[in-house]
Amino acid sequence: MVLDNKLGITESAELARTEEKISKIKALELFEKGILDSLKAGTFNSLSKIHKYLFEDIYEFAGKIRNVNIAKGNFRFAPVMYLKQSLEYIDKMPQSTYEEIIEKYVEMNIAHPFREGNGRSARIWLDLILKKELGKVVNWCMVDKEDYLLAMERSPVKNIEIRELLKEALTSNINDREVYMKGIDASYNYEGYFTYKISELK
Ligand SMILES: Nc1ncnc2c1ncn2[C@@H]1O[C@H](COP(=O)(O)OP(=O)(O)OP(=O)(O)O)[C@@H](O)[C@H]1O
Ligand SMILES: [Mg+2]
Repeated sequence: MVLDNKLGITESAELARTEEKISKIKALELFEKGILDSLKAGTFNSLSKIHKYLFEDIYEFAGKIRNVNIAKGNFRFAPVMYLKQSLEYIDKMPQSTYEEIIEKYVEMNIAHPFREGNGRSARIWLDLILKKELGKVVNWCMVDKEDYLLAMERSPVKNIEIRELLKEALTSNINDREVYMKGIDASYNYEGYFTYKISELK
């Protein structure tokens, strides 16, 4: 089962590869062209612009709120019915301390506003908040992927793991390309570890 895409790709490994390549080129553009700097930190509108930019050549739904309920592992992300409301709430969440920023990031992950590509766009969005509010970003090179994923799986219940993990990796090196690009690695996607539509289970 492959997501509908603008490239006409019908094979999932090929889509994953192509999607990763294109979104990385676009992520670099976001950075190099100073587009990120023009975005307001911590709003859904900014996240949506990031997502649109990364995925507009691949998916029709780029930048658009999903209209299906989705899950990963045992976790069901925010139901479509409450998604808009939840995003309005997240917009208003405070972001002046590191702890508040992580709380906001975790809530945005629970919302998971897009059909696909939430992780990559949200990591860029998180960095934008950290940069503006604290003058820091996450050095994603220092974050072990498996630890990150386990901490994110745990985060809806308790955010201490992700908070500690990313705290260790904070850097003042905010304009480093390598540091930034590592966060866009799509290889957080493990084989067989896909997002499914809730309705497909029924
Ligand atoms: N079981 C889970 N519970 C809560 N959040 C999860 C779970 N599994 C993964 N996540 C979060 O969802 C993100 C993946 O979402 P999605 O597949 O929409 O984004 P992506 O950009 O394609 O992937 P990735 O972040 O893996 O590059 C992960 O980065 C992680 O933050
Ligand atoms: Mg994915």
